[in-house]
Amino acid sequence: MLPFLKNKNLAIDLGNNNTLFSDEKEILFSQPSFIVFDTETHQVQAVGNEAFTVFEKNHSQLKPVKPLQWGVIADYNSASIMISKMVQQVHSKKWFGGFDHLLSGIPYYATEVERRALRDVLDQFPSRHKHLIFEPLAAAVGMGLDIREPEGKMVIDIGGGITEIVVISLSGVAVFRSTKVAGDTFTTEIQDWFRRNYNLMIGWKTAEQIKLQIGSAMPMLIDEPPPLRVKGKDIMEGIPTVREISYAEVAAMLDKSIRSIEDSIVQALETCPPELSADIYQNGIYLTGGSALLRGLKERLEKNIQLKVHRDAEPLVSVSKGISRVLREPEKFRPVLFD
Ligand SMILES: Nc1ncnc2c1ncn2[C@@H]1O[C@H](COP(=O)(O)OP(=O)(O)OP(=O)(O)O)[C@@H](O)[C@H]1O
Ligand SMILES: [Mg+2]
Repeated sequence: MLPFLKNKNLAIDLGNNNTLFSDEKEILFSQPSFIVFDTETHQVQAVGNEAFTVFEKNHSQLKPVKPLQWGVIADYNSASIMISKMVQQVHSKKWFGGFDHLLSGIPYYATEVERRALRDVLDQFPSRHKHLIFEPLAAAVGMGLDIREPEGKMVIDIGGGITEIVVISLSGVAVFRSTKVAGDTFTTEIQDWFRRNYNLMIGWKTAEQIKLQIGSAMPMLIDEPPPLRVKGKDIMEGIPTVREISYAEVAAMLDKSIRSIEDSIVQALETCPPELSADIYQNGIYLTGGSALLRGLKERLEKNIQLKVHRDAEPLVSVSKGISRVLREPEKFRPVLFD
């Protein structure tokens, strides 16, 4: 029998872009979902923040890997090692090798094969109770919503790799839509736009910074961010070039992707049973996931979908807060847990 520590619990949000751990009280770890291997020895050189800093640096000795794609495990071995190293960072001294409860989020759209990949990754951690929970349900709990009520609640989680739209009622998912258009798509659209329209090559990280600093879902904002000087490489001349970009230009770059998310929301609303529709019209929709932070997104959705939008105050941590809450009272949330 392994020397389990009493009440040692771990909640995992293995996100496309960010991995978070929490226990039943608080968030313990939050770092980018990246790992770096040595190209020759295949030894791990870095995980999380440290790994993210070398991403795109094209070092011959270092091979950075992003083990998740579209919110699910795309590279099983890298994901497994990344999680193991990250857990060691949290439980280096105290960890005795086993947990009481281990609970992990998984996207609702994940296939049985993708679920199995996650379970297999988690099997390296001995634990008495091991469960999965759908991420949009965890996000709803994290936002403080009572998912057990019959009243329908629409939750939209726009993460890095996937956007999931659910209508929750009586601890279940009554309506579901997902699209692979999310934060990474926004970043890639910015990168592509620079190449196509300005003949300028910019790195993925530069595009991500543009999004975070002046990204917008609307061409006119009340709180206007100042223009940004972007450094890239001229495709024709091959020389470094600087170009000033306004937030309105970024809004044009992101328009197509946001419209596609809006289409998915409308489709979800169209397939919603009338009773639940009435609840949503009454209460509005709940927006979370890191990409909910995009400037003007809440206002744009309110204008185009004609519903009140409640944006989560801490959208990067809603899933993690939710799983942590579930760990506090696993019996109460038993209907939303599965093996
Ligand atoms: N201020 C911001 N403005 C716009 N986007 C942001 C902002 N802050 C974070 N993001 C985006 O949020 C995304 C990460 O969100 P989150 O951590 O919820 O995703 P994830 O859980 O890792 O991914 P997934 O849910 O798809 O598995 C990234 O694409 C990031 O660029
Ligand atoms: Mg997520």
